[in-house]
Amino acid sequence: MHRRLIAPGALAASLLLAIPASAAGASPGAPGIGDPYYPAYGNGGYDVSHYDLRLKYQPRTDELEGTATLLATTTQDLSRFDLDFLLDVSEVRVNGAKASFATSGQHELEITPARPLAKGTPVTVVVRYSGVPSTKTAYGFSTWHRTPDGAVAADEPEAAWWWYPSNDHPRDKATYDVSVSVPDGTQAISNGTLQSTSSRLGWTRYNWRSNKPQATYLTTLAVGKFDLTTGTTSDGVPVVNAYSKDLGDNEGAARASVERTAEITDWLTGYFGPYPFNSVGGYVPNTTTGYALETQTRVFYSPRQFAGGSNTSVVVHELAHQWYGDSVSLAGWKDIWINEGFARYAQWLWSEHEGEGTAQELADYVYASHPADDAFWTVAPGDPGPEHQFDIAVYDRGALAVQALRNEVGDDAFFAVLKGWPKQFAYGNASVDDFRKYAEKVSGASLGSLFDTWLYQPSKPGAPAARDAVIARDARTKGAEGAPARPRSWKKIAATDSVH
Ligand code: TRP
Ligand code: ZN
Repeated sequence: MHRRLIAPGALAASLLLAIPASAAGASPGAPGIGDPYYPAYGNGGYDVSHYDLRLKYQPRTDELEGTATLLATTTQDLSRFDLDFLLDVSEVRVNGAKASFATSGQHELEITPARPLAKGTPVTVVVRYSGVPSTKTAYGFSTWHRTPDGAVAADEPEAAWWWYPSNDHPRDKATYDVSVSVPDGTQAISNGTLQSTSSRLGWTRYNWRSNKPQATYLTTLAVGKFDLTTGTTSDGVPVVNAYSKDLGDNEGAARASVERTAEITDWLTGYFGPYPFNSVGGYVPNTTTGYALETQTRVFYSPRQFAGGSNTSVVVHELAHQWYGDSVSLAGWKDIWINEGFARYAQWLWSEHEGEGTAQELADYVYASHPADDAFWTVAPGDPGPEHQFDIAVYDRGALAVQALRNEVGDDAFFAVLKGWPKQFAYGNASVDDFRKYAEKVSGASLGSLFDTWLYQPSKPGAPAARDAVIARDARTKGAEGAPARPRSWKKIAATDSVH
């Protein structure tokens, strides 16, 4: 408000005095970001805005060499701060000056800059490192997967420690440039767009860029012999898919599913709004692990996802996460329902679209197939605990909760919420509580007890109101306001769903 001119000399003098004075009481950043499920994950005291990873990987020996440059801003006066990392560090520089470093805990790299850092200032951290990721463990496990011709980093919630130093928590999202040099004839796959490639001395470098905020666990690396395909969505988003040349019998089904990425992205856009990133696609490496993961813009699919034939449902699930989980990320790991409940619900909508059962029919089926004494009902999707974070209940009971919400607020409000949420919190973080408040605002309904019943009670809820009753209720309310009568039959509703 009250701007005044300061003589240049006075300004310089005040800055010189201000920096040491303000950082004088500097203290170490916390070794964890404060997530009760995973107290040591992430760190305190700074916020990363960009990772620049310049890597070289030799598949034969699993040797990884790298230089990571992190652009960050301090959020407190810092005498020291941590990164999460497992490989062997040879040098750390902070704002150009050599910093001392040590390891502690399971995966902490403690960095002490030559001078304390004042709160609110930009900081550049350069970490030079090398190591054999497959030889490193934390808490007794490793999520680094070697393949016959390379390796894959794609896991949840831990993946980064084995290949780059980070503030490893989805609350601190950043943009990425991932540049990877691999032997000629081998490819490196990562998130976003392939900006350029170059080749010399028997090595080929792949430069990938992901230009929207991205969580650490959604940053992926795959090295191996891949066949790349390209395309574009109807909104003009480039599609890049990659298939290991070593998929055996699963190759046909993998391609028949993942090549439908553009179509499925277009279809999801109808429900969730514009696709949030600069590229879309998936990769199928020759790994033996079984899952798929919603790595941002470039989904990881295990070939085993296609062992039973084509599987468009998993493509729908992982692409749904691009809105629910990737663009809007969880605030803490307890908010996993926002990821998995909605990605599963998208699969139910796809089933409806494919004429393989409506969302309501699938909800009824899930509800009926778990008797009241099934442990399924003891898992609260709204706060499952770290040991049940990826329990089937988070997915299926989670999607039931979504259907219960739909039946409570009616289709108009429900689909407005489904599309409005990814816009409201785009590229940010949000909690289950934020979701309830948002759904209440859009629908005008009070949803505390519905959420409590479906997301938090450790018991089977009473049978939900039959769909017909909900439709009849909506028709009454709307009728009173003179709004157009709602379709009567469930079939008609299913038909209109696809246009949302
Ligand atoms: N989020 C993944 C999905 O829904 C599944 C998943 C859960 C996972 N835990 C994982 C994937 C651990 C890899 C590693 O598709
Ligand atoms: Zn999922």
